[in-house]
Amino acid sequence: MPQAFVLAGGSRSQLGLLRQARALGHAVCVIDGAETAPLFAEADHRIVRSFADVDGVLAELAQLGIEPVAVATMGSDQAVLPTARLAERLGLPGLPVRTAEIVADKRKMRAAFEEAGVDSPPGRELSNLDEARQALGEVGVPAVVKPVDGSGQRGVTEIRSAEELQAAVERALAASRAGAAVLERYVSGDEYTVNGFLLDGEYFPMSVTRRRLHPPPPLGVCIAHRYPSNLPPDGERELFRLADATSRAVGIESGPSYVQVRVENGRPWTIEVGARLGGGKDAELAKLVTGFDAIRANVLWALGELSRADFDPGEPTAPCGQVRFVVAQPGPITRLDAAPALELDGVHEAGFYWQEGMVLPPLTSGAERLGYLLLTAGDETELDARTERALEALVVEIAAEQLV
Ligand SMILES: Nc1ncnc2c1ncn2[C@@H]1O[C@H](COP(=O)(O)OP(=O)(O)O)[C@@H](O)[C@H]1O
Ligand SMILES: [Mg+2]
Repeated sequence: MPQAFVLAGGSRSQLGLLRQARALGHAVCVIDGAETAPLFAEADHRIVRSFADVDGVLAELAQLGIEPVAVATMGSDQAVLPTARLAERLGLPGLPVRTAEIVADKRKMRAAFEEAGVDSPPGRELSNLDEARQALGEVGVPAVVKPVDGSGQRGVTEIRSAEELQAAVERALAASRAGAAVLERYVSGDEYTVNGFLLDGEYFPMSVTRRRLHPPPPLGVCIAHRYPSNLPPDGERELFRLADATSRAVGIESGPSYVQVRVENGRPWTIEVGARLGGGKDAELAKLVTGFDAIRANVLWALGELSRADFDPGEPTAPCGQVRFVVAQPGPITRLDAAPALELDGVHEAGFYWQEGMVLPPLTSGAERLGYLLLTAGDETELDARTERALEALVVEIAAEQLV
């Protein structure tokens, strides 16, 4: 029976996992509901089926005669719970299903933080406007309303007055499969991503990056994450401590941890945690600036082969780097070409999430960003100059949208 490393999701953000699994000598089976999923072209085996249909996927694996040696995912919150369920059913290493359920639901996540005493903004769950009014009465303005099961900032709104509540609640409930939302205190201040990896309960810090955000609305769409964070060493250590406590609170014993934090008047607050590597090239950036290969660690963990020795960082390529996302006006995409940017100094990756012929919708979440650049440089001034040059070199042509 052919063995295969199984990947839940066939988007481009999974490419690193696919290549690492293959570099370690494994055939790769990609599962995705869309026949057009980009990674199908590179896969050894394909299952065209939603990864959420765990029974269906297991049946197809058996039908194809594939013996899975690991199941993994990165880059999308939606795949984390199905991946944990698949791993459990197959008796393979993975996240406990209970932990995957907690990180997939902001109600459970908030409860876990509260129980563990992790600093996170006070708030409440709600499923209608009355409950939202009550929650706002307790929390006050400014506040944030977000779907319990959202990701990529879909349906997340900041409200500055009670009049803005109804629209925000409608937006959050419309974006929620469970028909539920949370309202919590708005935490001001700069936002950071704290990347780490756990092994048998021990937290290994990877990197802290500063998130540059697109002006709201929509709230929280990341335009760039940047290394170094420029926090003082003490500040970074505190963020790693909080990320460690946050990861434990939701039950991540082993595996990647991606914690979003806001620092308000010097005090860090956990906004959320993902039990996966960041979907915005976070691990790729971390490898360039710290030397630690988290994608390789993720593959080894899924195989049950990760050990402490794998946490020795290698040599960084550069002291500074960033992932810069590309946004553009909405409309029909007539031409995209990242190749000219890729030729420039310091550009490691450049690409688009959308394709020619598609219509780019207005920016309402992270999903409508057009593309990304991954860059490094010797210092921050050079990084900014390289980023500007690369942005100019990208060929992006979008026709003006026709008014009907
Ligand atoms: N309580 C809050 N205070 C301030 N900003 C928040 C708060 N909650 C969410 N945000 C902003 O909205 C973004 C998306 O919220 P998040 O909880 O990360 O949901 P998602 O699962 O959609 O990523 C965050 O990155 C942050 O910028
Ligand atoms: Mg988030």
